[in-house]
Amino acid sequence: MENWTADIEFERIGPLMRLVKKFIFNPLANHLPAQWWRTWLREGQSELALANWNDPGGWRSMVISYEGNPEKTWDRMLVKGGTVPMALRNRRRLTARLCARLIDQAGHDPAHAMCLGAGPGLTIMDAMQAAKKNSFATLVDISSDAFDYGQAEAKRRGLADRVKYIQADVRDVKQMLDRPVDLVELIGICEYLDDEHIVSIVQALGTMMDPGTAVVFNSISDRHGTDRFFRNVFGLHMHHRSPEQIEALLKPAGFGEFRHFPEPLGVYTVVVGTKSAARKGIA
Ligand SMILES: C[S@@+](CC[C@H](N)C(=O)[O-])C[C@H]1O[C@@H](n2cnc3c(N)ncnc32)[C@H](O)[C@@H]1O
Repeated sequence: MENWTADIEFERIGPLMRLVKKFIFNPLANHLPAQWWRTWLREGQSELALANWNDPGGWRSMVISYEGNPEKTWDRMLVKGGTVPMALRNRRRLTARLCARLIDQAGHDPAHAMCLGAGPGLTIMDAMQAAKKNSFATLVDISSDAFDYGQAEAKRRGLADRVKYIQADVRDVKQMLDRPVDLVELIGICEYLDDEHIVSIVQALGTMMDPGTAVVFNSISDRHGTDRFFRNVFGLHMHHRSPEQIEALLKPAGFGEFRHFPEPLGVYTVVVGTKSAARKGIA
């Protein structure tokens, strides 16, 4: 599995820019009054700021960062040069590659991927296109806001008849399945959930996933150095956890054999876990 990701072209930050960020940009971002930042971003019509103010940690801000090519000056600086948006694009590449390989290894044909907190489902669509094997995806999100965007994107990529959107809370995941699942993707969601919420999701997954199937999730570390800015300016309250801390929440539900795939900026680690035989059918 380790060589699955060896040839991915990641975005990186050189040693000099790391120092400039650490000693100049990050302190300015974190310690200039939040009210100043909000005024500048509002007057500069920042779409990234507006997306976060409307829906902190929502799908729209993620898509702006993934696309990486916004129009407004502030957005260009934040999205192209910000450590977190760069790390998000690295996470997208990692997730797509790992999910594509897991689709290729799946026991069913077509393979079935379920994406929880999916937003429009861009990462799983990337994976479906990169995979050699045919696949189908069920995309679950509590908000249906992203579904029109996602369906248009699926159509553009020729995937319209291979994705199904469901508006629901991921904790009700068990009722949503109409076919066995080979792979569950939980990307970009654990950092917005408390431990109890994650446990309730993985308990539901533990009872419905077959032994040997895979779960793909991510951790986020505070190495980006701008948590104070995100909290005070964007209203984003992220839970920074190590991969091991999230794994400890998954293990009681029967998941193990965790493999870590850190992106090179040290912000996100994508983790692949496997459902073990022992706990199928608990609860
Ligand atoms: C940051 S976005 C990530 C989107 C996508 N996974 C990606 O990586 O691009 C988080 C998504 O999780 C959804 N979400 C948050 N809590 C949820 C819940 N309890 N059930 C279903 N979706 C949820 C939000 O609506 C949002 O679309």
